Amino acid sequence: MKIVAATGNANKLREFREILAGYEVVSAAEAGFHGDVEETGSTFAENALLKARAVCKATGLPALADDSGLCVDALNGAPGVYSARYSGGGDRENRALLLKNLNGVENRRAHFACCIALAFPDGREITAEGRAEGKILHEERGTGGFGYDSLFLSDELGVSFAETTEEQKNAVSHRGRALGALKKLL
Ligand code: IMP
Repeated sequence: MKIVAATGNANKLREFREILAGYEVVSAAEAGFHGDVEETGSTFAENALLKARAVCKATGLPALADDSGLCVDALNGAPGVYSARYSGGGDRENRALLLKNLNGVENRRAHFACCIALAFPDGREITAEGRAEGKILHEERGTGGFGYDSLFLSDELGVSFAETTEEQKNAVSHRGRALGALKKLL
């Protein structure tokens, strides 16, 4: 069976392929979908489903999509679904804004969340979620990763997501856990 992954990100494609061994996973572009789906939902699940449904409808194939972000307790869950668009700039500007908004704030509790949705042409839908718990550092640590990784001290790893290997991060990350949960559901 063919499944379309609603992503242009090569790393995500590779991860989806690993989890869905036995299925032929193709990118949205390979399936002829070149559109952009607006993430208008207020939850990660809504956004993942929006993307999966749109690509499923356009291609007539089962479609997989994910949405993720960082939720900070002291900011009432922000940046949340707006994580990528937090500052209006790129990753560096997003991290700077996060540090600014947490300036003088003692409660640094936060988690990364990820939802993966799979939509089938017959209307069936599966969603799987994962979380990674941690704290927001007062300054960046580590040079690996992307997004908010260098500001996120993982409870389980004891180091920031930018100070670890991709393999170690995947073992405890929100995306790794959502993928694991999806695998079980399949
Ligand atoms: P998306 O789900 O790929 O659209 O990611 C949303 C945004 O959340 C990214 O642009 C990052 O800012 C942030 N984000 C999601 N997952 C991670 C992660 O594992 N590390 C760092 N930032 C992340």
